[in-house]
Amino acid sequence: MRIFMTIGAVLALGALGVASPLTFAQAPSGKVPPAKGQKKMPVAAPAVEESDEATKEFEKFRAQMEDSNPAELFEMKGEELWKTKRGPKNVSLAESCDLGQGVGVVKGAYVATPRYFADADAVMDAERRIVWCMVEKQGFKFDDIAKSPFHRENDPGAPDITSLVTYVAAHSKDMKFAVPLDDPRVRNAWETGREITMYRAGPYDFSCNTCHGGEGKRIRMQSLPNISTNKGAIKGAQGWPGYRMTGGVMLTLQWRMNDCFRQQRFPAPKYASEVVSDLLTYMIGNANGQTYRGPGIKR
Ligand code: HEC
Repeated sequence: MRIFMTIGAVLALGALGVASPLTFAQAPSGKVPPAKGQKKMPVAAPAVEESDEATKEFEKFRAQMEDSNPAELFEMKGEELWKTKRGPKNVSLAESCDLGQGVGVVKGAYVATPRYFADADAVMDAERRIVWCMVEKQGFKFDDIAKSPFHRENDPGAPDITSLVTYVAAHSKDMKFAVPLDDPRVRNAWETGREITMYRAGPYDFSCNTCHGGEGKRIRMQSLPNISTNKGAIKGAQGWPGYRMTGGVMLTLQWRMNDCFRQQRFPAPKYASEVVSDLLTYMIGNANGQTYRGPGIKR
């Protein structure tokens, strides 16, 4: 049964245009799916990114763009939002919101989340925590924030929450990810996150790992990082929040998780919910020790 489902998923992925080094090696046309008798994927994939021209070109372009990264505009907006008294309670986040480093402290907060917050009795990623502060400290209504939490194409501006996350993330630039996995509550969230990445369901019987659990997988030229490894997890976490050139939108990791639920043909997770924090605890926790380079650019 399991083997059958695996083959089914591989075939379904083939239909979607996912290619692994294996399928390329066997079928240079990229059209022939792997033989049914195929039991194992290759153990060590070749260094796919390094050898891939499209990726190299994009990396070059990104390096040039990062000198004048549009993310900085959102960061500036976020700073203003962070410091201004707002909401029904007319308080600023700077004077009320503790992201884990002390009230108002943004330095180093992004790379040290998700973490456990006693006042909320929950493990929260940075975005979920900021939403929590906006609701609890400033008096905004969660449903109002959750109505349209992500930057949509053709919207002139990003939602406030996106700018706030970008501002906070920028203050962890060049710092190492340090999700406190020795906290049992955080470890618990990590375990749940790991289980979610393995959970297969939906019309194609996909899990996160169907697309992200192996080396060298790609869809439409996007390489899909293996988020269960340290090297892959940092690729998943790096560059977010990011300015997406396709559509000209600023997007956060909450959006990325949400969109991958869609890719997986799962129902959309509730915005800023526990399941997303658990997934981010798993992925960012796996990236611990790696250096975060700040808000970035995505294609
Ligand atoms: C059907 C395949 C598929 C599934 C299933 C899937 N993803 Fe993705 N994922 C993608 C694709 C394709 C991209 C790149 C999209 C783009 O850049 O346009 C991506 C991108 C990502 C990224 C960003 C990578 C980067 O380089 O910035 C992360 C992180 C991620 N996915 C995590 C997940 C998680 C967690 C799950 C399970 C909830 C999941 N994905 C399920 C296809 C999938």
